Amino acid sequence: MGQTQLDWWRSAVIYQIYPRSFADANGDGIGDLPGITSRLGSLKSLGIDAVWLSPFMRSPQKDAGYDVSDYCDVDPLFGTLDDFDRLLATAHSLGLRVLIDLVPNHTSDQHEWFKRAVAAGPGSPEREFYHFRDGDAPPNNWQSMFGGPAWTQLPDGQWYCHLFDSSQPDLNWENPKVQEAFEDILRFWLDRGVDGFRVDQPHAMGKAKGLPDHPDVERAGAGFIEGEPSPPMWFQESVHPIFRKWRAILESYPGQRAMCGEAYVLPLSFMALWVRPDEFHQTFNFRYLDSPWTAKDIRKTIDESFDAFGAVGAPSTWVLSNHDVMRHASRMGGDFGRTTASDGVGPNDPQPDAELGLKRALAATLFTLGLPGSMYLYQGEELGLPEHTTLEPEFRQDPTFARTNGARVGRDGCRVPLPWESNVNESSGFNQTGKSWLPQPAAYANYARDLQEGVEGSTLETYKWALAKRKELNLGHGTFEWAEDLCSESVLAYRNRSLLVIHNFETNETTWKLDS
Ligand code: BGC
Repeated sequence: MGQTQLDWWRSAVIYQIYPRSFADANGDGIGDLPGITSRLGSLKSLGIDAVWLSPFMRSPQKDAGYDVSDYCDVDPLFGTLDDFDRLLATAHSLGLRVLIDLVPNHTSDQHEWFKRAVAAGPGSPEREFYHFRDGDAPPNNWQSMFGGPAWTQLPDGQWYCHLFDSSQPDLNWENPKVQEAFEDILRFWLDRGVDGFRVDQPHAMGKAKGLPDHPDVERAGAGFIEGEPSPPMWFQESVHPIFRKWRAILESYPGQRAMCGEAYVLPLSFMALWVRPDEFHQTFNFRYLDSPWTAKDIRKTIDESFDAFGAVGAPSTWVLSNHDVMRHASRMGGDFGRTTASDGVGPNDPQPDAELGLKRALAATLFTLGLPGSMYLYQGEELGLPEHTTLEPEFRQDPTFARTNGARVGRDGCRVPLPWESNVNESSGFNQTGKSWLPQPAAYANYARDLQEGVEGSTLETYKWALAKRKELNLGHGTFEWAEDLCSESVLAYRNRSLLVIHNFETNETTWKLDS
């Protein structure tokens, strides 16, 4: 067994599938598991190693599935457990691994645990599953990530904590029963054969004892300020033993099961604590996604990434897009920082330059695919899809939009269904009916997969070429060295094995004369 086989997650290219927008087999306008299964062949031909599926478990869909009401069943919107088994078997027969999304910080308010807690009343052991408190006013000043207070009051007077929507009550991870329940959930899916998990918001699971006020909520809002002490709802030390236990469970199964934490913890030296050898296998390197795309910033981030993750023997991951941020083909087409990126862009905002954005995004992806480590791709970026930036308010579904009265448009713009076949119907082949839970912008027809397949120089073929090169040269397990003689204020160049990558961060045309 070679090293690649041994440590697949150290070098893997993992493709994020957002199930409701990938492919829709039953034509109801919402993507589903049979739709995914039917298109796995096209992912194999893209050249990826694994897929990560955003949540498809039972859910009222108040936060597009990140509000789970049954962790061990498939939501009928997406199919059945049998459909999932077929998807998994098909993926495995194609040599693709499958990671699924686990959402442990909160459940849906329609989960049995929460319904029982509400029914059982104050002081009951059922309420110990969540964070309930008495009081005439919210128990502290915490804010929801989606806007507004992080507390909602029940008719019986008690408040419950939710760092996200009020339909997503936070679990109490101090309660051993919660811990045991999640160990069973892990086993349920591992027994079914999944290759691992992407773990949602693991840094939110621990809460400081006594749930004290956020010391600086005016400045930090719902978030944190880098370099300052941990706020009481993020990064609590108490969570690490939980992940060690999970790691041991994963390791008790054959076949290198792995977990990637969505640990939004900075600086990277702090994030690296989450990928010590007995905790997560990977975390998303959001510093990379957040960094302004300049030679200076990207160089600093890459150096910090190798230093921080290298110090604990973990690989770095690299990520440029996902279902929570503005697609990088649009983000790079204007002056859109991360704050704006995660809040989306609406019809009344300055609009990105699509052509420039795509050129820059493709260059950024090629630059990134040469790096050693593991890379996450988000569905549609291989087509060069832009963000839907002119989505009208009546279509908005992200809870952020409603909770801020439209002040933040939210993340719907990066979640629009994929165009597979140009001009077959209104949804560009997302299904047979043309229905689509979010309307595609007219431009999507021009990015459809069938227009790019086999067309030299298309975004799709460029991704395929780069992914094939990455595999051929085993770059994921490679070495990294700056090619100092070629680097400048606007150019970064590095070597990985026999590959030399040169990236010009400016828009001027440049040529290089190489010795060999
Ligand atoms: C997920 C989001 C989700 C949030 C709450 C995130 O980090 O990626 O899509 O809204 O967690 O579960």
